[in-house]
Amino acid sequence: MSLFVIDESKCKQDGLCAAVCPFALITVEAGKTFPAPVDDAVERCINCGHCMAVCPVGALTLEKMEQGTGLDPKQLPSYAQLTQLVRGRRSIRCYKKEPVDRETMARIIDLARYAPTARNSQLLGWLVIDNGEEIRRLAGLAVDWMWHLVAEKDPRAVSYGMEKLIRAWENGSDPILRGAPGLVVVHAPADYLLAQVDSAIALNTFELAAFALGVGTCWAGFFAAASRIWPPLQDALQLPPGQAIGYAMMVGYPKLKYQRLPERIAARISWR
Ligand SMILES: Cc1cc2nc3c(=O)[nH]c(=O)nc-3n(C[C@H](O)[C@H](O)[C@H](O)COP(=O)(O)O)c2cc1C
Repeated sequence: MSLFVIDESKCKQDGLCAAVCPFALITVEAGKTFPAPVDDAVERCINCGHCMAVCPVGALTLEKMEQGTGLDPKQLPSYAQLTQLVRGRRSIRCYKKEPVDRETMARIIDLARYAPTARNSQLLGWLVIDNGEEIRRLAGLAVDWMWHLVAEKDPRAVSYGMEKLIRAWENGSDPILRGAPGLVVVHAPADYLLAQVDSAIALNTFELAAFALGVGTCWAGFFAAASRIWPPLQDALQLPPGQAIGYAMMVGYPKLKYQRLPERIAARISWR
């Protein structure tokens, strides 16, 4: 199998495909030869699609990938529009009871899967729980973990105020998953070193896509921490064999509407 097919009637031999390849897997003599893959290109290619995407005339088609849709610069959000999206997204902690329908959820994940992953590995999996009772049961197991840390006098129990969180849970509120009707757990092979980074980038994309569709989200930090080490919660999650949690996010329709964009502290930048 060859790595790609070149439509010689279109190719201008401009060498752009070779220039963008992250692993120099394409040879071309500008103006003289058509692009050709190096010997071990098929084994080393990470299928990032740059060679295909950069070609102005659509002359290169990867064997494993269809020609993608064209990039339309007119559809790109302006900086002002992006500012509204980035600054308008908030951590939602008051949710309506009804879960986000699966079609919308799938649509959000469908955009999040375009987030970058290290070496384009695309190893992430998505567990979506949209059963409120099950989510409350999982939150309860994270509270059990907090009980355990308090009993063990673990310093994290004090620094994260876990006794207060336990008390809030016992009084009927949910400081772990905030009564969200949805929970998304991103997972990856347990031995994948960059699972947390890839998951965080994917979930950051997820939350922006969700916001664009009127869906609220909140990072589930306590829940993710507990899921990483508390066996009863790991058992309850039932991730596919060999998989471990990367990160998790609450999901649901917001009960409240935000009207303003609060400030953050100024960026600490050093220039050199
Ligand atoms: C990694 C991470 C973990 C978080 N974990 C929680 C959490 O467990 N519970 C919660 O209510 N908020 C959690 N948050 C939300 C932050 O408190 C929130 O992002 C921050 O206060 C800024 O507010 P904003 O997201 O509305 O802009 C987490 C955020 C991040 C980035």
